[in-house]
Amino acid sequence: MEKRMTAFFEKFLTKDSLFLDKKVLQANYTPNKILHREQEIEQIAHVLAPALRMEKSSNLFIYGKTGTGKTVCVKYITNNILEVASKNRIPLRIVYINCKLKRVADTEYRLIAQLATEFGKAIPATGLPTDEVYKIFFSALDSKEQVIILILDEIDQLAKKAGDAILYNLTRINEELKKAQLSIIGISNDLVFVDNLDPRVKSSLSEEEILFPPYNALQIQDILYERAKRAFKKDALGEGVIEKCAAYAAREHGDARRALEL
Ligand SMILES: Nc1ncnc2c1ncn2[C@@H]1O[C@H](COP(=O)(O)OP(=O)(O)OP(=O)(O)O)[C@@H](O)[C@H]1O
Ligand SMILES: [Mg+2]
Repeated sequence: MEKRMTAFFEKFLTKDSLFLDKKVLQANYTPNKILHREQEIEQIAHVLAPALRMEKSSNLFIYGKTGTGKTVCVKYITNNILEVASKNRIPLRIVYINCKLKRVADTEYRLIAQLATEFGKAIPATGLPTDEVYKIFFSALDSKEQVIILILDEIDQLAKKAGDAILYNLTRINEELKKAQLSIIGISNDLVFVDNLDPRVKSSLSEEEILFPPYNALQIQDILYERAKRAFKKDALGEGVIEKCAAYAAREHGDARRALEL
């Protein structure tokens, strides 16, 4: 048995792999080219750009079905704006929180504690009154002149788990701040999420709104081709495979993630 297994592993090692770079197919891989989202990217960039002049950018709500590129586009844009900010010594901070993650955003206390930590103030995991946690967070934030863009990805999960009071408090935060300014980007695949919010929260979170429509089959094909070019060796993919995956994913609901999984 042992010999057979060694032989198996040895053979596996020397066998030609179909892949150039398998990482490229994983869900957390950031593509270096984003296709078919030029308009959405430009719109978001316009909303955020004032932050570079130390002006508070509008809050923004981005919504669209799953796999339509919301997260990947926002990360791409914020990486770019950060690069320009740091080159020009502009005190711009981007904080990205995935509200779906356990232990980060399941309660108001946890999220504010997490945010305080991001700004250098450690808060015990439990025990303080929520008001106190807010106070510590505010003072950490306001310790210097800076513009902050807070990205709350899967924001519907936050509201569901922690209630919408936290969103109310965060959208009102600038009234309390003297040196710092904070804008929020909320991202959700729940298309009716904002409609069910307290109207005051809704109007401040959705100062700007951008919808990510589903991809059609041809767009998904382009995305898959681009990715396959980097992931597979030439000729490793049979003819028609990409077309089939694209057609299937488009029929489901224009989900690029699903297409990549296939
Ligand atoms: N236009 C695109 N070009 C290249 N890759 C893309 C594009 N759109 C989506 N993808 C890829 O498809 C996958 C899903 O995209 P993303 O995570 O941005 O979707 P999402 O809209 O945030 O979905 P969810 O609502 O489920 O969070 C990722 O692997 C992403 O890299
Ligand atoms: Mg996402």
